[in-house]
This record gives sequence, structure tokens and C-alpha cells, in this order.
Amino acid sequence: MEHNQHKHYTQEINITPQLMERINELISHYPEGKQKSALLPVLHEVQDAHDNWLSIELQNKVAEILSIKPIEVYEVVTFYTMFNQRPIGKYMFEFCQTSPCCQRGVEDLMDYTCEKLGVKVGQPTPDMMFEVRGVECLGACGYAPMMQLGDFFQEHLTKEKIDQLIDDCKAGKITLHDK
Ligand code: FES
Repeated sequence: MEHNQHKHYTQEINITPQLMERINELISHYPEGKQKSALLPVLHEVQDAHDNWLSIELQNKVAEILSIKPIEVYEVVTFYTMFNQRPIGKYMFEFCQTSPCCQRGVEDLMDYTCEKLGVKVGQPTPDMMFEVRGVECLGACGYAPMMQLGDFFQEHLTKEKIDQLIDDCKAGKITLHDK
């Protein structure tokens, strides 16, 4: 399957009552008429509830909920790499590619991971379970080489640790979110 940012992927939109309640709670942190300020946390919530990506239709829905223009949502979604505009692998291995991690061999580990999973960077496995991407410094340079998997850092990486992580993901032993 080909994956790129320009292809149109369809997504089922499911704003459950629980999700709406959470969104309203986030909006309530801001003064009346300033609901746009809740955009970032709302997008996180909505993305978490939709397999970790935001289709245009879903972004439009967020705009509608916040009573803002769709373009205001698109601008934010395209600016931040943490928001995904296409379906991504469930277990996204986000390797830090800034120099302290590079000096400690992160590139080799990325190559190793891609080879093991049979993918290129930015291309999910056909079963949508895994994906690898490079990101900028995650502020954990003292633990280099490191990566982020879901909400958690995986530090002092080695090939053995990568093997173990992949096995644990396949076995459903990895928690992605800290809430
Ligand atoms: Fe990798 Fe900072 S350089 S966490």
C-alpha cells in the first residue's frame, strides 16, 4: 500500500459522548469566546481517539466544535509533527536524529529497525502495526541513543533492546499512553 501526505485516506469520525465531555472540559479552561486556545489539547484528545491521525474531515469537525475556521485547524495540524495527516503504524518508533543521539549510533539502530520490519522510514508495515520515523531532539540527550514510543521514552537503545521492544509490541505488552 502506498502512503503519502497527498493521497486521500478516509477515516471514520467517532466523537463519542465521552470524548465530547473531555473536549468540553478542555474548552472550559479558557474564557468564553477564547475556545480556540483549547485547539492543541483538543486535537491531541481527538487524535488519540482516532487511531492517532486526523483526516481533513476530522479537522473540519474539530473546527466546527470549536467554532473556528477550518484553516485555523489545518495550520496547526500541518505545523506540528506530532499530528498525523494519514494513517500511521500503531507502534511508531520515533528515533531522535539530533547530533548527541547520532553520535551514539542512532542511524544504525534506525536502519536495523527498518530492516527488521521490512519498511523504509515513514512507511508503515502492511498490517499497520509498526512505523519508523526520525524526529528532532527530544530533550533526553543524556540517555542517547533514544526514541519515543507513544508517550514514553526508550533510552540507551541497543539492537537487543529494539528486538525486545518489537517482540513486546507484537505480544501487546507495550503501553502507548500514560493515561
Ligand atoms: Fe537525542 Fe537530544 S539529541 S534526545
